[in-house]
Amino acid sequence: MWRIDTISIFVIVVVTILFIGLVKLIQKVRSPNHGIFDFKRDYDSASDNPEFEEMAGEDESTYLGKSNNNKNVWVKNNARHVFICGTTGSGKTIALSNFIKSGSTYGYPMLLVDGKGDTDSGSVLEITKKLCKNKKLYVINLNDPENSDKYNPFQNTNVDIIKDMLINMTNWSEEHYKYNTERYIARLCHLLELKKIDIAFDSLTEYLWTDAFVKLSLSLEKEKLITKAEHLENVELSKTSGKIAESASARFATIRDSALGQIFDASGIDIYSALKENAVILFVLNPLVYPEMSPLIGNLVVIDSKKAVSNFFSDKKSRIFYLLDEISSYANVSLLDLVNKSRSANVTCVLATQSISDLDKVSSEFKEQIIENCNNYIFLRQNSPVNANYLADVLGTRETMQATYQIREEAGEAKSTELGSLRKVHEYLYHPNEIKTLKIGNAIYLSRDEMVHTKVKIFKSF
Ligand SMILES: Nc1ncnc2c1ncn2[C@@H]1O[C@H](COP(=O)(O)OP(=O)(O)OP(=O)(O)O)[C@@H](O)[C@H]1O
Ligand SMILES: [Mg+2]
Repeated sequence: MWRIDTISIFVIVVVTILFIGLVKLIQKVRSPNHGIFDFKRDYDSASDNPEFEEMAGEDESTYLGKSNNNKNVWVKNNARHVFICGTTGSGKTIALSNFIKSGSTYGYPMLLVDGKGDTDSGSVLEITKKLCKNKKLYVINLNDPENSDKYNPFQNTNVDIIKDMLINMTNWSEEHYKYNTERYIARLCHLLELKKIDIAFDSLTEYLWTDAFVKLSLSLEKEKLITKAEHLENVELSKTSGKIAESASARFATIRDSALGQIFDASGIDIYSALKENAVILFVLNPLVYPEMSPLIGNLVVIDSKKAVSNFFSDKKSRIFYLLDEISSYANVSLLDLVNKSRSANVTCVLATQSISDLDKVSSEFKEQIIENCNNYIFLRQNSPVNANYLADVLGTRETMQATYQIREEAGEAKSTELGSLRKVHEYLYHPNEIKTLKIGNAIYLSRDEMVHTKVKIFKSF
């Protein structure tokens, strides 16, 4: 009897030890850094990545800063787009400035857009002037139209791009109106070409009006450059579609007749020409002073940069940086198209915005697509729980094991039964609370291109 009890106890002890050992071993294998995730105990360690390794290698890269395990953090310059998101003052522009510095060091042509148009000491304009001293710099500046470089988005263009520019200045509820207007714009471009009139901001503003369009057509008929039948067709087209095109012209006219009109000139530069001469071209928008015209011009810039992408696609140039700060002031579907198409033309886009809700304002599909099309994220502080949760979801979760122990009550006290179960759970890679409490200049960096992630203290390079 005594012998059996001893053996039983011995077996129970051995089995218990083996079970606990097995549980610990599984935990260790599945989650080497953290064991079972306990929010209080493991919160801090769960939110860093001690295994983060330096990645720069031989590739052209941008230095971003130091990881929390004191390794250098690099972003490859051929990154398939970078998305920076952080509340006001959290350090987006400083993060972006590292790409300006890198582009300048490697001698890349660069397009920069500052959607907010700051003029203070931390502005994109000031940073670019400091970091791009060795490069030709064009500044199209809505804050100072008088001294701005001149801009002509209609250079190096074709009818399709002009249609795109004009059509995107209006919201179209009815597709057939859009189609008719496109026909009208295409015809106008054809007539201007026949008349040898340069297609520029001024000429389009003037000839989009139906009266001017019909007069132009008539004069070409008199010069026998078009037939009578063609002229009559033009008159008909002006009646059915011209009125809508006039609304685009009216918008152009508002810009032309304002102080901003000085920025546009047929002799001005376009993005493609600036990048081709390996320069830096910076657009400083000003949504505060020009709340309606600023997004329109931002939109022109996006379509102009798409034009540059399609030209570079055939040129097969070296790396080009498109660094777009505060995209919310001009974000629309054209921007998405730009991001989609630029990858194959060796263009790396870095997009910065304050919050994910900014993108929602365009549409939730737009937000999803931006996230989908950017493989690299630099997330700075977010104030809103909704935004922090969303970003934490974007960063993702890791699988870990969670052990549950059975408890029994003995004399009013909870005691372990030493029995339990193990199950797989998902915990946030970076918890929303952490995104809400990041200090200025501290970020979470995750790259799906390189499959790495870490917290990073962003380097201030100037
Ligand atoms: N990595 C950093 N190192 C040192 N200082 C920083 C860093 N990031 C931000 N700062 C400080 O915070 C200020 C604000 O940074 P920054 O202009 O980059 O923020 P932002 O997110 O672009 O803000 P806004 O939304 O107003 O444009 C900077 O002028 C600088 O003083
Ligand atoms: Mg900024």
